Amino acid sequence: MAKARIAVVGAGLMGHGIAQVFALAGHAVTITDTVTANLDSAKTRILANLKDLGDDETAIERVTPVSELAQAVRDADYVVEAVVEDLPLKQKLFIEIERHVRADTILASNTSVIPITRIMEGLQQRERALGTHWWNPPYLVPLVEVIETQWTSPQTVNFAMSLHAASGKKPAHVKKDVPGFIGNRLQHALWREAVALVEHGICDAETVDSVIKSAFGRRLAVLGPLENADMVGTDLTLAIHKTVLPDIDSRPKPSPYLEKLVEDGKLGFKSGEGFRKWSPEQQTALRSRVLQHLKRARADDMKAAQ
Ligand SMILES: NC(=O)c1ccc[n+]([C@@H]2O[C@H](COP(=O)([O-])OP(=O)(O)OC[C@H]3O[C@@H](n4cnc5c(N)ncnc54)[C@H](O)[C@@H]3O)[C@@H](O)[C@H]2O)c1
Repeated sequence: MAKARIAVVGAGLMGHGIAQVFALAGHAVTITDTVTANLDSAKTRILANLKDLGDDETAIERVTPVSELAQAVRDADYVVEAVVEDLPLKQKLFIEIERHVRADTILASNTSVIPITRIMEGLQQRERALGTHWWNPPYLVPLVEVIETQWTSPQTVNFAMSLHAASGKKPAHVKKDVPGFIGNRLQHALWREAVALVEHGICDAETVDSVIKSAFGRRLAVLGPLENADMVGTDLTLAIHKTVLPDIDSRPKPSPYLEKLVEDGKLGFKSGEGFRKWSPEQQTALRSRVLQHLKRARADDMKAAQ
């Protein structure tokens, strides 16, 4: 794919990481933010990440911080928005962006949960707009969900799919703009049952996590659930579903157990206790374990691609 001119709006946790991925892939990237400190530190943060990962540090030369939105997006082929999760702000921003870009510039939002349809409904040319949902950290987690709305053109979807694949990501086409897209629907279906198991006294929180990590969690990175179903047989899967599904939590609202935790101020790491207690040392150790795991997986992927 030809190199593109990319504008990233929002230089926070996700924005700077997205800019890093595109710059490393050879694209020219402008990045903008309304908070001067966040914009000013963007290149430093990207360079630190490149160094830490042993990536080509000259990629930083392709990143240009720009304080004015109009100037940042003016020459862009592709604009991706990663500002705070606020619908009216995102809606206003895209209407503003559309005033400054070419008629064929593609516009994407990195929202986690807001429907893309709502964000883009005020645009003049809604066929050029879509969602691109990256996962944190953008330079370590391969998936980018590419979400089309009822208005998105096939050309827009193809461009986004090709751009992300050529930038070393694993794009997944989400054909309908549904809450949670694909990844978070799957993740939270699992989390609902995880909470229910604790709520109903079947095991404690530590056991839930341990069962996942030491059993199917081990396989999940190389064996998806539907591959697994085919491997064991759809007939066996059907038989298991007939027995287990009637008993699995299917309430269409959050568990009262989770609501009580929040009510009691047990907010997890930030309060020192959630489903279980977390000392500052335990929190650091877990964050570090996750980061090391993701880095190793990325290094393995890169080796395999050589
Ligand atoms: N953090 C995650 O794990 C994650 C994962 C996937 C998607 N997202 C989504 O990505 C988006 C950004 O999340 P984040 O975690 O990077 O947030 P963040 O708070 O780290 O960064 C948001 C940035 O947007 C800037 N900003 C606010 N208003 C702006 C404006 N009008 N113009 C330009 N910049 C503006 C802020 O100054 C800040 O630097 C959100 O929609 C979030 O839901 C986050």
